[in-house]
Amino acid sequence: MSHHYIKTENLEYSYYGGAKAIDDISFLITHGEKVALVGANGAGKSTLLMLLNALKFAQKGTIDIGNTFVTEKTAKFIRQKVGFIFQNSDNQLFMPTVSDEIAFGPINMGLPKEEVERRTDMALQRVGCESLKNNITSHLSGGQKRSIAIASVLAMEPEILLMDEPSSNLDPFSRRLLINQIKSFTHTCVIATHDLEMVWELCPRSIAISNGKIVFDGLSKELFYNQELLNECHLEQPYLAKIEQMKEAEKIRSAN
Ligand SMILES: Nc1ncnc2c1ncn2[C@@H]1O[C@H](COP(=O)(O)OP(=O)(O)O)[C@@H](O)[C@H]1O
Ligand SMILES: [Mg+2]
Repeated sequence: MSHHYIKTENLEYSYYGGAKAIDDISFLITHGEKVALVGANGAGKSTLLMLLNALKFAQKGTIDIGNTFVTEKTAKFIRQKVGFIFQNSDNQLFMPTVSDEIAFGPINMGLPKEEVERRTDMALQRVGCESLKNNITSHLSGGQKRSIAIASVLAMEPEILLMDEPSSNLDPFSRRLLINQIKSFTHTCVIATHDLEMVWELCPRSIAISNGKIVFDGLSKELFYNQELLNECHLEQPYLAKIEQMKEAEKIRSAN
């Protein structure tokens, strides 16, 4: 098995004094898979992503990322292997210019100047934002900030990408750009989202969670037609699934 995998076993996490936010979660995600993590607000998506990126540590169970178990000791290494794109890009971007922002991770990794420059240019190119290199970070639009946040993570050359609601608050143009960027990644990706139209395009597999538990893990297409599950997860059926169902009903009607 390639080493770009995520394997969780019986994970549990509770916030101080709270109920279980993550409750007995086990799954295996293999190299190159693009998996949607779906569920209502408060289901536990962000908490799970933070556990996978060693920003929080499970009270029970294990996470194995490419043969390294996530612990406080391995946290630094895990955060280099696993890139995390935050829900709110303003929480991710803190350097004055775009090039400083993207170079920050590689510099912190102790890489030589030429390699930092190579990675900065590569990352900007990957998200199609070469022209923003010398811009002031705080002056960027929401969509540009999301692209630069992604570039700053790509510059670390992670093996796995975690994204927390990446299409939220983007206009249609920026959302389309984001979807095309994600399509071009060969990384193993876990994408927490409510945007099932995006899942339709990007993620053959979905994991749905409700109250911290996995309630579905399988083909996204199966989720799209399971109205009960969609309701439980506060999700709306994708438009294309609605059309397919209408066509199917029409076929049956005309056959009778
Ligand atoms: N910092 C926190 N302190 C206490 N409880 C929290 C905190 N963050 C999240 N929770 C609780 O944990 C549960 C899961 O939240 P979260 O992972 O943010 O869900 P989602 O990302 O699916 O909306 C919710 O019940 C939420 O109220
Ligand atoms: Mg969340």
